[in-house]
Amino acid sequence: MFKQLTEAPQDPILSLSIAYRDDPRTEKMDLGIGVYKNSDGVTPIMKAVHLAEQQILDSSTTKSYVGLAGNEAFNQSMMDLLLIGTSAHSRAAAVQTPGASGALRMLADLIYLAQPETTVWISDPSYVNHKPVMEAAGLKVKYYPYFDRVTKQVNSEAMLHALEEAGPKDVVLLHGCCHNPTGADISFSDWQAITELANKNGFMPFVDIAYQGFGDGLEQDAAGLQHMADNVEEMVIATSCSKNFGLYRERTGAAIVVGDSLRQAQKARGRILTLARSTYTMPPDHGAALVATILADDALTQSWKKELNEMNQRLLTLRSGLVKAVRAQGSDGFDFIEHHKGMFSVTGLSPKQVARLRDECGIYAVGDGRINIAALQEQQMDYLAKALIAVSN
Ligand code: LMR
Repeated sequence: MFKQLTEAPQDPILSLSIAYRDDPRTEKMDLGIGVYKNSDGVTPIMKAVHLAEQQILDSSTTKSYVGLAGNEAFNQSMMDLLLIGTSAHSRAAAVQTPGASGALRMLADLIYLAQPETTVWISDPSYVNHKPVMEAAGLKVKYYPYFDRVTKQVNSEAMLHALEEAGPKDVVLLHGCCHNPTGADISFSDWQAITELANKNGFMPFVDIAYQGFGDGLEQDAAGLQHMADNVEEMVIATSCSKNFGLYRERTGAAIVVGDSLRQAQKARGRILTLARSTYTMPPDHGAALVATILADDALTQSWKKELNEMNQRLLTLRSGLVKAVRAQGSDGFDFIEHHKGMFSVTGLSPKQVARLRDECGIYAVGDGRINIAALQEQQMDYLAKALIAVSN
């Protein structure tokens, strides 16, 4: 049977980590996969996570099953973090999922179940896994214009013009904050305009928010999503604790459904549970137990928020440091990096230039030109700045 298979294509992000690991050069830099690294180049376990881990270790008495929906305190916390204070909070239901990719897939499967002929509109460009996940669920995918490759910002006019065409058979996928891969976020007035369009034309918004806390702050990063949730009848949200709790390998995420009533949201949640049963049955517990423990404890919550804020502040310093280092080489061609939000920036480098970065300088970036600013170390700025200029010329 397997002789009929052709080789699998390499994952454009995950394959980079392996190539980086096997690269013997000492000056190499892994700016591929979206993980935060501290100034020693380590992805740290957050202090609150360490303490919660100890508490769980001391108090756990069983490894028995939790249930199809995972940890319910965690599910409630995810809805609180994103929707508290909105009208959607009382008409939402959540399911814990294996990472936000698990949430994307469960929600895509749910959409297919409700309306198989749905087309999902995704930004051009978008997170590399969006299209494969939507298509694997049987949904059609269409791109809307998003990134202006000259200004390196969002082309709102083109985006809103294209979304005028989306109707009741469509879902529009948006990045809650810290757009992956570009780093260019839509403005609050864009959120308002898309909300109006959703209500006027009947499409459903689907928000993927995987970087809450890495843009303007935990609350500010959810402001656009909250405006939308407050004003639309239905929407779905995929959220992740990989980055803001540093729980990457624990695969900790949630799928949230907002319905026109709590009953509708719960009905959809029930369908997700059946879908999960036929996929992976239930999510792994550890990461969600950690998050639930942290958010149930004031001191741990404060510690987590403080450390997240420190990581975010350092990220801003890295952005300005890189721009300064490039300027010191006599170029203002990368100033836009300072205006981007979150871990990533699309540099505008072509796939050929990205290959030169890797081959000539040992710097690993994603083929679409995305670099992960959050993986930079202060002492690497000049090396990266010189390399960016060298391959641009
Ligand atoms: C990324 O974009 O680097 C991350 O979200 C990792 C992933 O799952 O692809």
